[in-house]
Amino acid sequence: MKTFPKDFLWGAAISAPQSEGHGSLNGKSPSTWDKWYEMNPEKFSKNQGPEHTSNMYETYCEDAKRMNAIHLNSFRTSIAWTRLLPDGKTVNSEAVAFYRSYFNELRSNGVKPIINLFHFDMPWWLMKKGGWEARESVEAFAFYANTCFELFGDLVELWTTFNEPMVHVECGYLYGYHYPAIHDLKKAIQVGFHTLMAHTLAVKSFKEGKYSGQIGIILNVSPCYPKSQSKEDLEAAQLADLLNTKSFLDPTVLGTIPENLIELLAANELLPKVETNDLNTIKKNTVDFIGMNYYQPRRVQAPTKINQPALSPADFYEHYDWSGKKINPYRGWEIYPEALYDVALMIKNEYKNIAWYVSENGMGVADEERFMDQTGMIQDDYRIEFMQEHLAQLHKGIEAGSNCFGYHSWTFIDCWSWLNGYKNRYGFYRLDLENDQRTLKQSGHWFKEVVDRNGLI
Ligand code: BG6
Repeated sequence: MKTFPKDFLWGAAISAPQSEGHGSLNGKSPSTWDKWYEMNPEKFSKNQGPEHTSNMYETYCEDAKRMNAIHLNSFRTSIAWTRLLPDGKTVNSEAVAFYRSYFNELRSNGVKPIINLFHFDMPWWLMKKGGWEARESVEAFAFYANTCFELFGDLVELWTTFNEPMVHVECGYLYGYHYPAIHDLKKAIQVGFHTLMAHTLAVKSFKEGKYSGQIGIILNVSPCYPKSQSKEDLEAAQLADLLNTKSFLDPTVLGTIPENLIELLAANELLPKVETNDLNTIKKNTVDFIGMNYYQPRRVQAPTKINQPALSPADFYEHYDWSGKKINPYRGWEIYPEALYDVALMIKNEYKNIAWYVSENGMGVADEERFMDQTGMIQDDYRIEFMQEHLAQLHKGIEAGSNCFGYHSWTFIDCWSWLNGYKNRYGFYRLDLENDQRTLKQSGHWFKEVVDRNGLI
C-alpha cells in the first residue's frame, strides 16, 4: 500500500470560463473568449464556443453533492473577473451572491475551495486597452485580486493568482491559439513580465491585507529532456526549462529572476520594460505554495537554424520526433509519469522544498463514447492506469521528502476547452451535451476508493 500524507487534498480542477456558462448573463461582461467566438466561431472545434459549458452557474449545488459522492475533499475553480467586476471597477452584486453561495455549498459538502483568479479570461474592456501588453493591466488585476480577498476571504483558505501564465503568453503571442493570436517574441516577453507583476502585486496585497489562508500560483510544468547527451542538446534542454519553467518558478518562489535568463534576453534585445521598484517587489512577495499542472514532458534538441537576435523559441530549442515513446493514442500527448517524480525532486532540491500540489493531471480522450458500456458508463481503464502510474511516481517523490500536499485531476465533469471545445474528454463524470446530464465514469468510482484509502494498493 502506498499511503499519502495525512490530510492530503484529493480533488479536481476546472475554471470559471470552462464551466459556468451564462457568459453574457447576470451582469457579466465579455472576455476575449466570448468576443473571439463572436468574431470567428469557425476557429472553435465544431463551432462550440464558451456558452457550451456544463452550466455550473445553475448546477453548482448538485455538482457539489456529486463531488461529495466520490469523496473529493477539495476543488479548484476560478472567479470570472468579468462577472465580478464587469467594468473593472463596479462590483456586480449578483456575482458576489453567486460565488458566496457556490463556495459555501462546496464547504458544506466537505469540499475545500481552492480559488484561482485568472484562467486565460482577459476582460474585453481591458483587452481593448492593450491587454497584458499594457502596464495598466497590472494595477487593474491587483485591484480585482484585492476585491476578491475582501469579498470571499472568509470562505477561501487557498488562493492562487494565475493558472499557467506561460500558456496565455505563448498561445496569445507566439502560437495563435488564444486571442490576440499574434506572433511576436518581444511582445510575448513583455506580456509575461506584466503577468508576473500582476501576480506579484496580488500577493503583496494579500500579505499586506493580512488575510487568513495562503496564496500561491499554478504553473504548467513540462520537464525538458534532451535528445542526446551532446553539449548542444543539453544546452537546448536547459534553455527550454529556463524559458518555460524557471522564468515563473524562480521569481514567484525564490523572488529572483535567473541571471542567465536576463543575459539571454539582453543578448537578443528582448528585455522587457521594468519599473524602478519591480524587482524589489518581486523579491519581497514570494508565494506560500505552488500548484503544478503536469500532462507531458518536453523532448528537445538543439535548434537547426538560429536567428540572432532570436525571433521565436525555436531559436533556442526544438522539439523532436517522439517515435518510440509511449503516447496517449486518444489525444496524441506523450505519457511519461516518471516526470512527476523529477518535478517533486526539483521542487525539493531547487525550490526550498516549498509546499506544492499537483494542480492538474489527467488524460484527454477523443470520441470517448466508444468506451461506453451497456449501462451507459464510460469504462475508462486507460485513465485509471494513467492516474495510478502518475500517483505512484508522486508517491515516490513524497517518500523522497518532497513536500506535496495534494493531487487534483483535470477534471471533474467533461469540460469545454478553448479552441478544442469538447474534442478531448477528461472528466470523472461524462457530460451529455444533449441534456447536460452527468454520469459517473469508472475512473470516478476508482478515485473514490483511492481517496478512501488515502493511497494506492
Ligand atoms: C490545461 C488547461 O493545460 O489543459 C485547461 O489548464 C485545459 O484549461 C486543459 O482545458 C486540457 O486541454 P485540451 O486542449 O486537451 O482540452
